[in-house]
Amino acid sequence: MKKTISIILSLIVMLSLTVTGCAAENGAEKETGKEDLSIVLQIDNPTMQVNGEKKAIDQNGTAPVIVNGRTLVPIRAIIENMGGTVGWNGETGEVTLNYGDDEIRLVIDSKAAYLNNEANELDTAPAIINERTMLPVRFIAESFKFGVAWDGASELITITKGKSDTGEEPSGKKSAVIYFSCTNNTRTLAKTIAAVTDSDILEIVPSIPYTSADLNYNSDCRANKEQNDDSARPEIEAQFELDGYDTIYLGYPIWWGTMPKIINTFLEAYDLSGKTVMPFCTSGSSGISTSVNAIREYLPGVKDGMRGTTATTEAEIKTWIENSK
Ligand SMILES: Cc1cc2nc3c(=O)[nH]c(=O)nc-3n(C[C@H](O)[C@H](O)[C@H](O)COP(=O)(O)O)c2cc1C
Repeated sequence: MKKTISIILSLIVMLSLTVTGCAAENGAEKETGKEDLSIVLQIDNPTMQVNGEKKAIDQNGTAPVIVNGRTLVPIRAIIENMGGTVGWNGETGEVTLNYGDDEIRLVIDSKAAYLNNEANELDTAPAIINERTMLPVRFIAESFKFGVAWDGASELITITKGKSDTGEEPSGKKSAVIYFSCTNNTRTLAKTIAAVTDSDILEIVPSIPYTSADLNYNSDCRANKEQNDDSARPEIEAQFELDGYDTIYLGYPIWWGTMPKIINTFLEAYDLSGKTVMPFCTSGSSGISTSVNAIREYLPGVKDGMRGTTATTEAEIKTWIENSK
């Protein structure tokens, strides 16, 4: 029964995963780094999602497996969807993978792996299972500078391309604190949450900064005008690459009882479906629930939020996270 529930839950997660961006038609286009790519696989599931589109991994019904605690994936379908090529020498058992200028060479049942002729040792050797070459996903994805995320609860593997567009390497962290703050209260709380949860921390920086006059809510200030204008969407300066994160802690100050309009800009610009979103705020005294209801207009499954302060403690943050599960 437990197993059935878990399979149903996993299927729901798979079905509800929507991924932005579209696959490039060929490797050359991908090398420009302009395209986003997301491949979602699941242990024991012969179906994968490429940019949200479900397809069979291959005609043999091959599915990813776990061997010695490492995820082995049928490599041909993945590399080809990445835009790379796979070569196979049946005599030597050698597999050659090419993507852009990079080349990986591996040998079946051997832990030696060569990235551009540099030797590396794998934890788990590549294997042939049901006539398919199964390779350790993390080494390959990371060698080719793809992001790779693992969701243990649903046994989902997500391979993404996008971070290297900016030349940035993925940090490997599964959660990010993303916050907006004008007078540092939310920033201080965001830093505490990032430290407690071992998350990356990203700031929503407005293209036009808010001056003190803009925040003087006793006047006809910019912040007040924006909050009174349903269509206001203040522009965000930097763009984020969020594909690798499973959990987003989203922080903001309360403005006139709810979140600042720049959070609407953020929620409309990024597809957070499939991620756990945990809102938090600081305020003079107002609670967070009105803003959480507003976020639910975009993300019905968003967790209850936490109103914190610059003095919120580690224990309080842990309790909030525990109660949100
Ligand atoms: C335009 C504006 C409107 C605000 N509205 C509220 C409010 O409705 N309720 C409240 O408790 N605090 C309100 N505040 C206070 C902020 O929520 C509070 O100072 C918050 O901690 C600021 O966060 P920050 O330092 O990260 O910008 C408002 C502040 C501004 C600038």
